Amino acid sequence: MQIKFQPSTQPNQLQGTTILPVVQLPEGQQPAGLATLATLCDTTTDVLAQRFTAATQEIFPVVRPHGLLLLVGLGSKPDFASTLKTCQQLAAKHDKFLHSELTLQWLPSAAPDNLSLHTEAVVNGLVQGCHNPGVYKTRNDRQHPILQADTTLTIVSDPAQETALLDAAHQGRIIGETQLRIMALVDAPANFKTPAHLAQYATHAGQTYGFNVQVMNKEALEANGMHALLAVGQGSVVPPAMLVMEYKGKANGNGLPTIGLVGKGVTFDTGGISIKPSANMHYMKSDMGGAAAVLGTIEAAAKLQLPVHLVGIVPTTENCIDALAVKPGDVISSYSGKSIEVIDTDAEGRLILADGLSYVIRNYHPQVVIDLATLTGASVRTFGYLAAALFSNDDQLAHHLAAAGQQTGERVWPLPLWDEYGDDMKSDVADIKNFSGKPVAGAISAAKFLEFFIDQHPSWAHLDIAGVAFGDMPYGKGKTASGYGVRLLIQFLKGGVIVH
Ligand code: BES
Ligand code: ZN
Ligand code: ZN
Repeated sequence: MQIKFQPSTQPNQLQGTTILPVVQLPEGQQPAGLATLATLCDTTTDVLAQRFTAATQEIFPVVRPHGLLLLVGLGSKPDFASTLKTCQQLAAKHDKFLHSELTLQWLPSAAPDNLSLHTEAVVNGLVQGCHNPGVYKTRNDRQHPILQADTTLTIVSDPAQETALLDAAHQGRIIGETQLRIMALVDAPANFKTPAHLAQYATHAGQTYGFNVQVMNKEALEANGMHALLAVGQGSVVPPAMLVMEYKGKANGNGLPTIGLVGKGVTFDTGGISIKPSANMHYMKSDMGGAAAVLGTIEAAAKLQLPVHLVGIVPTTENCIDALAVKPGDVISSYSGKSIEVIDTDAEGRLILADGLSYVIRNYHPQVVIDLATLTGASVRTFGYLAAALFSNDDQLAHHLAAAGQQTGERVWPLPLWDEYGDDMKSDVADIKNFSGKPVAGAISAAKFLEFFIDQHPSWAHLDIAGVAFGDMPYGKGKTASGYGVRLLIQFLKGGVIVH
């Protein structure tokens, strides 16, 4: 898709499909700019007002001699997240209205404030809404009109806004395209998506977009003492790996804050010997949603040339069942040297993150460490599908992540790390155990386990994204990837990371 700008002009001369977003006025009042809209639609204000209220996600197509006009409702309080969602739905559900010649028309009387913000949201939403989970169908010849190489999107607005709107559209497109790539990865079945496949994906992305990638294979994991990751991987025929990615913004990273990102990369979670029930087990191909968020964030940061130094760590493995698999009660070691009693082999994510966290902290000394993981069913029971659980030992970091979540719609909400919760993780036989054995506070006790491996780092945050990485989306009947995390973390990084 190419993006162009055209100073405001008579919209009815435009060809193809014109997207015209409209803000809804308070209860009982007609949509903004109704008289102008009615003229454009060749109708009266009364007729239009009866058919189109500009509620969020409301789409009103009008056929005109040279093309289609799509009035798109933004609701009465449009923000980045609502506009993004509206345009995501538009691309996903109404592709028949879309065309290789697209116009985004900002009509002053109907448009929201902050056109840059909304332009970015429109473009991001349109691109992200093109996700196609059906790539494994033998007849998959459908290409979304928005993704076709010769598609142009012309933004029509006040000429004074040209640079700002083109920049915003560019950023929306870059993030949307990155989200599409990681959504395809999360939706990929586990027989395609092995740890080696993730390693290949990262290596290729690093070469293409300009960041360094090193893959620690099984031998290297053994040489480095990644015992917890190896223990989870030992029950699978495909070997585990650890991906180490590094992106340095301008000046080769000198003087830039170092941010460590760690993502859970379990390519399939059977539960291991503590096997999961079979209903919905197929969704456990998405247990690498944290890894996808880290891969996508580094890729987008590199494409946008953000002034940060990022270190992305992805411990990746299957959690399978086999004669060699780790057993409940086994005691294993870890990269930190601490011993772990494995009470439940289904609490595998925290084991591999323990190695990832200790590794990034010891070897890169990041000022801030953030991990993302589809870690517990308990976080889903707490927040449903609306927010990630946020744990942090740094109030300022938590505040910045929460603000980025609010801004982007990728919400996070805090839960406590009180010491008493850690008592439940004490083991009689090892330094710590991986499951409290209690049916309560599961997301918190998992976070307390991780905290044990951060070496007293003063600025760490853990995001339990089990409820938000994968879910009911407009792309199909079953659950699919959401792309969660990329937008949140890019927003966080752009906000300027406060290091203290
Ligand atoms: N991958 C799961 C968590 C999960 C559950 C992700 C639902 C997405 C949706 C994780 O490895 C797991 O199995 N956690 C257990 C931990 C328990 C055994 C302590 C859980 O939450 O039940
Ligand atoms: Zn598990
Ligand atoms: Zn898991």
